Formats: sequence, C-alpha cells, structure tokens
Amino acid sequence: MVLDKNFPPLKNDNVLRAARGEPVDRVPVWVMRQAGRYLPEFQEVRATHEFFEVCRTPELACEVTMQPLRRFDLDASIIFSDILVIPQALGITVEMKKGVGPVLPEPLVTPADLERLNQTGTIERLNYVGDAITMMRHMLDGKVPLLGFTGAPWTLMGYMIEGGGSKTMSKAKAWLADYPEASHQLLNILTDQVVNYLVMQVKAGAQMLQVFESSAEHLSKEQYITIAMPYLKRIRDDLQKKLSDEGIDAVPLVLFSKGAMHSLPEQAQLGYDVIGLDWTIDPHEARKLVGPDVTLQGNLDPQDMYKPLEELRELVLTMVRKFGKHRYIANLGHGITPQTPIESMSVLVKAVHEAL
Ligand code: CP3
Repeated sequence: MVLDKNFPPLKNDNVLRAARGEPVDRVPVWVMRQAGRYLPEFQEVRATHEFFEVCRTPELACEVTMQPLRRFDLDASIIFSDILVIPQALGITVEMKKGVGPVLPEPLVTPADLERLNQTGTIERLNYVGDAITMMRHMLDGKVPLLGFTGAPWTLMGYMIEGGGSKTMSKAKAWLADYPEASHQLLNILTDQVVNYLVMQVKAGAQMLQVFESSAEHLSKEQYITIAMPYLKRIRDDLQKKLSDEGIDAVPLVLFSKGAMHSLPEQAQLGYDVIGLDWTIDPHEARKLVGPDVTLQGNLDPQDMYKPLEELRELVLTMVRKFGKHRYIANLGHGITPQTPIESMSVLVKAVHEAL
C-alpha cells in the first residue's frame, strides 16, 4: 500500500477553484453518493464484501471510489466511507442491513448512556479512512481532487439516539426537549471528534471537505439555528485554527444541510466556502439569499434522473444556466438513488459541461 504523502500534481482543479471563487475552465460537477448501488461494479464488490468491510479496507474503498471516475467525466472524487464511522469509533455498534440501511442495535436511550462513549483514541480507530484517502490520492494520479467528509453533530446524534434512520427523529427530538443539557453535551462531544477527524483527513490528503447535516430537515428553523448552527460554526472555526496552528493549508469546506433552505443567509455567515443546496430552492433565489461571496453546490432533484434523457438534459442545462459559471459546483440536491439509470449520469455530467 502506497502511503507516502508526495502526491502527483493536480490536473483538474476546477472544483477547488469554484469553491474559492476563482475562474473555472468549465463548471465542475460531482454527485453525492457517486460510488454506490446504481453501479453494477459496486454491487459486484458488495456481493462478496460487507459494507463496513469495504470502508475499512483501503484497497476496496479506493476501488469503489474510483468506479464512477472510470465511467464519467467527473470533476471530483469523494472517498468511500460513511458518516456513521464516527459513532462506531465511539464504541456504538453500527450494522448495514440490506434493504433497511444503517441499524444501531444499542442506541443512546438516556443521558447515562453518554458514559458508554469511548472518547479516547477515537480518531486513531478511524485511521483506516486516512489510509484510504492517502492511497486514493496516489490512485487518482492528480486526475481530480479528492473530497473527505463527515456527518454533522445533529445528524450523528439523530442516528445514535434513533438507532437508525427515522422518518420523524422523534426520539432525538425528545432528547432535545427532555435532556437539553445532555443533548448539548453529546453535540459537543461529536463536534470535538468531527474537528479532529477532519484534521486527520486533511493530513492524509483530503483536498476539500463536506459536512453532511442531512437530518436538518427534521428541525424547525429556530432549532436549526440553535441546535445545528452553533456546532457547524465551531467545526469551521476550530478546524481552521487547528490546521493553521499546525502550519497546514486550509482546504475548501462545504456545508450541506438538507432541508434547511429556510436559513441560507444564516448559513452563508458560518464561514464555509460552499453551501450545498437541496432541490427545493430555485438557483436565483438561493444566490440572492447567500450573497455573492459564497459558492453554491447543487441542486438537481435526484428523481429527475429517472426522466427521459432529453428531458433530463434540458433540466440540467436550465439549472446550470441559472447558477452561472462563477462560484458554482453542479451536483444533485441529495444522494443519487440506487435504481438510477447509468445513462442519466452520463447525460448529467455532459450537460453540465456543455451548458455554458
Ligand atoms: O458520496 C459517495 O460516493 C461517498 C460515499 C457515502 C456513503 N454514505 C456511502 C453509502 C457518503 C458521502 C455517505 C454519507 C452518508 N451516510 C449520509 C449523508 C449523506 C446523505 O445521503 O444524506 C448519511 C445520512 C449516511 C447514513 C447512511 N448510510 C444511510 C442512511 C444509508 C442507507 C442508504 C440507503 O439508501 O439505503 C447508508 C448506506 C450507504 N452509505 C450506502 C452507500 C453506498 C448504501 C449501502 C450499501 O452499499 O449497501
């Protein structure tokens, strides 16, 4: 396994330039969950390897990270992993059940359960992610930048209390109401780990980072501002400080808060370089709300990938023309879904590059 940090020079840095507000050769595009079940070659790897085994084995993680890049002219790669590796490293069992998704058989039930969290050596237990990132930088040979990522504190708290995905997040929201102090204690624990995890990923070679606040949709606007945002802000500020204290260059930071389009002006104030949009907001409206100094990422409805290809192409062209070439990274408004036809990805990527 090649783990030295002398990485090949980058050939296509459009996504990094877009994130920094610099001119681009073409509108960059990548897709959330671009390595995934819609690809038969991914299914093939999964047929013989359990989900977290793929995450934990750098050779396998790199292979599936590479798969979409072999097929499509994407402008970024994202390391194959999952947001739930942090709860796992804190000592909470996480299983990936076929047809169900993630299951945490021993969720946090009361504040006393916080004592179960093993906060020492947590990041070291995630070194396999760093190894996969370092290995991937070599495998990419500078083709496109490599993104690292993490779940955001509220989203991770939700899974840890619900014991898996939830339509309502009612148990996690009950914690907020019934155990406000313990809730903030948990959010602080997670924030500390997230910051250290992101520092580790940058040291390993991640060139851009995305923070997934995928469960923001369950919070009211007021709760998003009081429960999610303070920790998102601390992640940005502490990460910047830790990197600068160690003399490491900052990398662009993306915030994706699904279902929090009600708070875009507030998000734009957090200091992230890029704000990810879900598909519920119009590009012009989003730009008006965040102002000129933030890059926008998104936001095609993943369901549009099931439309006839000519119709899909028109939707993508319209979207990209609305966002424009400056400070824009094309993506879906959430992860690509398992039944998506592969040709739709080709059409999406091609249409983004041809739109302007
Ligand atoms: O984007 C990429 O290509 C990188 C890989 C990636 C995965 N999960 C792989 C994965 C990323 C960035 C994630 C993040 C993640 N994981 C999020 C945030 C993004 C989002 O979609 O909101 C969340 C909420 C999770 C937790 C999680 N992991 C869920 C809810 C599921 C089930 C999803 C489903 O549709 O069933 C997973 C499993 C998962 N993570 C899969 C993949 C490719 C599919 C599982 C499989 O291969 O069996």
